Amino acid sequence: MAEILVLYYSQGGAVRDMAKLIARGVESVPGASARLRTVPKVVTAIDNPAPSIPASGDPYVELADLESCAGLALGSPTRFGNMAAPMKYFLDGTTSLWLKGALIGKPAAVFTSTGSMHGGQESTLLSMMLPLLHHGMLLLGLPYSEPSLAATSTGGTPYGASHVAGALNDRPISAEEKQLCLALGKRLAETALRLQTPL
Ligand SMILES: Cc1cc2nc3c(=O)[nH]c(=O)nc-3n(C[C@H](O)[C@H](O)[C@H](O)COP(=O)(O)O)c2cc1C
Repeated sequence: MAEILVLYYSQGGAVRDMAKLIARGVESVPGASARLRTVPKVVTAIDNPAPSIPASGDPYVELADLESCAGLALGSPTRFGNMAAPMKYFLDGTTSLWLKGALIGKPAAVFTSTGSMHGGQESTLLSMMLPLLHHGMLLLGLPYSEPSLAATSTGGTPYGASHVAGALNDRPISAEEKQLCLALGKRLAETALRLQTPL
């Protein structure tokens, strides 16, 4: 069995909806399962601290989830062309795994949502790959054999799945964006299973 960690941060729900589709893509592959996890908000000393257990939705990730997964799908909203601080904060706390080389050789893929069409999806996806490369992970994108990649007029990139949510963050995930989320989850699960097969 290959368990894929689908780890995301989402404030408005767009990236969470994408995470669910990616998990569906993972679970379309026999022998693969998805574990959905999120990260807490980053709060300052003068804010109310974030609860240690989320009031609703997916549980917060633990380092053990990363260590034990067979593959990782990492999702964040675009914030000024980059990943959101809570996801970066979580990744900055993974040094103990880096020291052990715990993620070396595991497959990974990234996904994001933006407000606007040219608002930095690709820069966000590429910057999310950087810490994963430092961890020694094997990055997967989306191949152009996916018909939705050429057909989309909104999100969907060779660097990973994406969604254009609009200025009010209320545009539904398009048919092509959805298909590419499913394809990315499926590709990640299939790759994780292949990597588990002895040579
Ligand atoms: C602080 C902040 C910065 C943002 N920066 C960008 C940006 O650079 N480009 C863009 O297109 N959208 C930007 N957005 C919009 C979000 O990326 C967009 O609403 C996204 O769909 C939110 O995902 P979520 O619903 O999962 O939280 C920004 C939103 C916030 C709150």
